[in-house]
Amino acid sequence: MRPKNIVILTGAGISAESGIQTFRDKGGLWEKYRLEDVATPQAFRKNPAFVLDFYNKRKKDLLKVEPNAAHFALARLEKEYPGKVLLVTQNVDDLHERAGSKNLIHMHGELLKVRCEHCGAIFREEGDIFVDNPCPSCGKSGGLRPHVVWFGETPLFLEKIYSALNECDLFVAIGTSGTVYPAAGFVVVARKAGAYCVELNLEPSAMADYFHEHHYGPATKIVPTFVEKLLQTKISFDTEKSP
Ligand code: APR
Repeated sequence: MRPKNIVILTGAGISAESGIQTFRDKGGLWEKYRLEDVATPQAFRKNPAFVLDFYNKRKKDLLKVEPNAAHFALARLEKEYPGKVLLVTQNVDDLHERAGSKNLIHMHGELLKVRCEHCGAIFREEGDIFVDNPCPSCGKSGGLRPHVVWFGETPLFLEKIYSALNECDLFVAIGTSGTVYPAAGFVVVARKAGAYCVELNLEPSAMADYFHEHHYGPATKIVPTFVEKLLQTKISFDTEKSP
C-alpha cells in the first residue's frame, strides 16, 4: 500500500556532494573548529566577532554551491507524490529551497537569515554581519546574530514536527549521523507511531538499528533511486519486519 504521509529528515550528508562540509566526517567542520567556540550562546557572548566571522565564511561558501541530484529528487517527490510529503532539515543551507522544495521545516534555522536579539526581527542577509551593525528594524547595534540554533538552544517548530511524526506512515532519514538530539530520536517516535522507517546514508548511522530498511551510498545516487521507486510504488512497507 502506498504511504499517505511521508516525513523526511535530512542532514549534512545530503549537501556533501554539493561541496558543503559535513560536521563529523573525516575532515568535517568539527575537526577544524571546536563547536564550543562557534556554535553555543556562550561562545557568542565571549567572542561575538569570531562567531560572526565563522558564519560569514560559511555563508560565502554556501553562495558558491548548487543543489545536487538528491535535493532535486526530494523536490520532485513533493511535487509528484499523491500524498503528503514533509521535509524536515537539520541543515542551515538553502539548497532544498533552491531545488524547489516548498513544504520544508528548517529545525536548526537558516544561515542566510539574521536575527536581532534586541527586538526579535528576522531578516534575510546574504552579506557579512559584524558586531556593530545596527538592526534594520529597531536600529540598535550589538544584537545581530545568525538565525541558527546553537547547542544548548531549542530547535525550531518542534510541535509541528512531532505532530507530523506521529501521523506519518513512512519516515526517511537521509545523510545524518543520528548523533544530535532531538533529531536523532525522530525515528524512535515515528516507529512507535507505526511508520515504516528507511535510512539513506553513506554508512550506518548511530540510529541504524531503529530503521526497517537501509540503503548505503552517496546521496546523489541512492536518493533519486529511492524517490523513483516511491513514485512507482515499488517498495514494500512491512513494519512487522525486524531490521
Ligand atoms: N551521501 C550520503 N550521506 C553522506 C554523504 C553523502 N555523500 N557524505 C556524508 N554522509 C553522511 C555521513 O556518513 C554522516 O553519517 O552524512 C552524515 C553527516 O553527519 P554529521 O556530520 O554529523 O551531520 P548531521 O547529522 O546533519 O549533524 C546534525 O549537528 O553540528 C550539528 O547543527 C549541526 O545540524 C547539525 C547536527
